Amino acid sequence: MSVISPYAYIAASILFCVGLKMLSRADTARRGNQISAIGMLIAVLATLIVGGMNYVWIIAGVVVGAGIGSVAARKIEMTGMPEMVALFNGFGGIASLLVGWAEYHKVVSMEAGAFDMLTIVAIYLAILIGGLTFTGSLIAWGKLSEKLPGKPYLFAGQQIVNGILVLAVVVGGVMLCMNPTADAAYRILGVAIALSLVFGVMSVIPIGGADMPVVIALLNSYSGLAACAAGFVIENNVLIVSGSLVGASGLILTKIMCKAMNRSLANVLFSGFGSGTASGGGGGGDVDGEAKPISAEDAFVILEAARSVAFVPGYGMAVAQAQHAVVELGNLLEANGCEVRYAVHPVAGRMPGHMNVLLAEANAPYEQLVEMDDINPIMSTVDVSVVIGANDVVNPAARENEGSPIYGMPIINVDEAGTCIVLKRSMKPGFAGIENPLFFKDNTRMLFGDAKASVSSLVAEFKEL
Ligand code: TAP
Repeated sequence: MSVISPYAYIAASILFCVGLKMLSRADTARRGNQISAIGMLIAVLATLIVGGMNYVWIIAGVVVGAGIGSVAARKIEMTGMPEMVALFNGFGGIASLLVGWAEYHKVVSMEAGAFDMLTIVAIYLAILIGGLTFTGSLIAWGKLSEKLPGKPYLFAGQQIVNGILVLAVVVGGVMLCMNPTADAAYRILGVAIALSLVFGVMSVIPIGGADMPVVIALLNSYSGLAACAAGFVIENNVLIVSGSLVGASGLILTKIMCKAMNRSLANVLFSGFGSGTASGGGGGGDVDGEAKPISAEDAFVILEAARSVAFVPGYGMAVAQAQHAVVELGNLLEANGCEVRYAVHPVAGRMPGHMNVLLAEANAPYEQLVEMDDINPIMSTVDVSVVIGANDVVNPAARENEGSPIYGMPIINVDEAGTCIVLKRSMKPGFAGIENPLFFKDNTRMLFGDAKASVSSLVAEFKEL
């Protein structure tokens, strides 16, 4: 290791920690991202100057990887970002698996006693966690992109099969670690690789609908843990630090997501939520009344008279790319003497922080961003709540219908505002496939159409004032 590498690694680790801390606030998040990226650049450069590497392979890898990455990043629609993030987690996992596998070859070529037990354990963990992260993320990608059905896939004896898989993995690990150079060891490793891949599929297929946020956060954490194990394998301190940071922050995010859905992690992983509803569009309970469509002109009249408005964005805002128009409308309302807030549900959209990112991109004033726990107690004082392409996160069935699969999940209580205007294209259910009684409430008005087109019509009306 070069003389400067340890210092560079310490500097990089500090930058990662500072960057992560800054990511926790909307107004410092961008700078935090840049600081972390500088940390990563330092870590990569410091690793490259250590020497003893085959730079031809490294340059070839950089060219191929950067080529594929830049084409994918250019082609991907903003609405495809959540799937892309899921794939990134998976690629992190497969990279750790391959590092572990490659390093095993070094171990078997060593004299017995020339390697330590920690390296073998780390290799096994990098392969296991990396493998399950890879296939788990592929399934998550399929579900998010709706290439696979969103509803949970359950079969009789699923828990038993999973239990046998775990047992086989533990027994294989013990056998490998006891004698990593034995004739059978490589076969055990091969079986462990296969089992980890199967286990990734088995862990994610029973999870569906609204529980995907927890899975995404958990897979993110696994990818960090796999990288951390790979760091121990190749004895690279900065990889250990960065992997631990990703692992720990992913776990914290998982906890936040569980809290946002009022469910325990065990419940999410093993209950097969939504198995009876995700495709059917039920689960909202009996709906009374009729949906009341309104025109953009009527919605304008309601908003023009409002003294306080809360916008509640959801996945539909991302699909419509309506965030700029929404913030423009917010600014016009404010100029009209109205108090404006943007209330963000933690699992709105398709990836953690999805709505915050879109609102930040559109320069929504940070002081107007409110969390669910802060808006709900004052929702009854809000004149108009405007739901921009949100559905599951504002579904009162979660509060009112004990039979609903989302019963108990905290929602933003938009129905408690004086009037609720819902912007969406049709009466279709949201991601969880559950009918939404909000649309039939007395004080709800449906403004049908693409959210960007509807908001732009409202903006035009205000500009004509
Ligand atoms: P959803 O429940 O998915 O509802 C989105 C709504 O947007 C749909 O009802 C859709 O109705 C409408 N929409 C789509 N395109 C539109 C457009 N161009 N203009 C206007 N409306 C449009 O969204 P949500 O309320 O944000 O809830 C998120 C869901 O995703 C939750 O179930 C959550 O658990 C799940 N999920 C979240 C994450 C993370 S980490 N946030 C990850 C995976 C899954 P129409 O088709 O009728 O327009």
